[in-house]
Amino acid sequence: MLSVKSLVETCSLPSVPSKYVFPFKSHDTTLAEESEVIPTIDFSFLTSGTPEQKSNVVQEIGCACREWGFFMVVNHGMPKKLMDDMLQTSQSFFDLTEEEKGEYRGEQLFDPIKYGTSFNASVDKSTFLEGSSQVIKIVQFRTCREISQEYCRRAREIAKELFKGISLSLGLEGNYVEKEMEIERGSQLLVVNLYPPCPQPEVAIGLPPHSDHGLLTLLIQNELGGLEVQHSGKWVPISPLPYSILVNTGDQMEVLTNGTYKSVVHRAMVNNRATRISLGTANGPPLGKVVQPAPEFVDGENRPAAYRGIKYKEYLELQYSKELNGKSCLDSIR
Ligand code: SIN
Ligand code: FE2
Repeated sequence: MLSVKSLVETCSLPSVPSKYVFPFKSHDTTLAEESEVIPTIDFSFLTSGTPEQKSNVVQEIGCACREWGFFMVVNHGMPKKLMDDMLQTSQSFFDLTEEEKGEYRGEQLFDPIKYGTSFNASVDKSTFLEGSSQVIKIVQFRTCREISQEYCRRAREIAKELFKGISLSLGLEGNYVEKEMEIERGSQLLVVNLYPPCPQPEVAIGLPPHSDHGLLTLLIQNELGGLEVQHSGKWVPISPLPYSILVNTGDQMEVLTNGTYKSVVHRAMVNNRATRISLGTANGPPLGKVVQPAPEFVDGENRPAAYRGIKYKEYLELQYSKELNGKSCLDSIR
């Protein structure tokens, strides 16, 4: 099967082939006012600010997690060159021939590297206009390896600092999430998405509405917009500042905090102008860790545990066995 990228490059398509037409519902396209923007967090205040700056930024993180579940991080210390190299090397993976990429067309969820055109081709009803390459822990594609290992290492360090800020914002010890979720042995999944230009962007989708499975996702992208976040019943298009990192809380964070910090539904739209590329790292607990609402967030009958405990690995298997559709996976462990 040809990838969407090859399809776009080899034929000039006047319209979208029917299997790529996405069944939008009318309310699905309601956009928020332009003034609605996600909060911005200055990471340097968290790591090297004065006590007052640190306490302010912790509060801002708390507000961002409660009200949006999504924020933009600036002054994070990730070198610009590394971000550029990472996006470029990701693009070079998609530039391989179909045959070369085919080697990475992993069938199993936990294959160390997995390339495909859909989240889960066996259950998704329509195909998305993305090519997605997912990598667990070690990237084996040779020319990508060094850059992506360094990128992932740094993304992890940033995630760890953010876990501290999140713990403090919940009124807990700074190392709470890290300790509780065994982050030292935790998992990291790298997902690279490439969205080729689409002749009819209004009928297709890059990635359907979903929430992320992990604790915290860090996302970078090239200069093209496309990401939309659900907020107060509307879709908010995200225009990140150059070299910022977008951060969102995932399902495991919602489970751990018994819904105090919720995972947020988001989607990726396509455009008819140029290729968009985005790159996310999902930072989570070890795959064997059972995640359940922590006692700090449960209070007898006043506030019972809203989710059942489940191993992170099993949760991932559950999500990959389902159609990508809002928070349906989280709903199935309520
Ligand atoms: C994702 O949700 O995994 C990717 C979103 C994007 O491409 O902006
Ligand atoms: Fe996502």
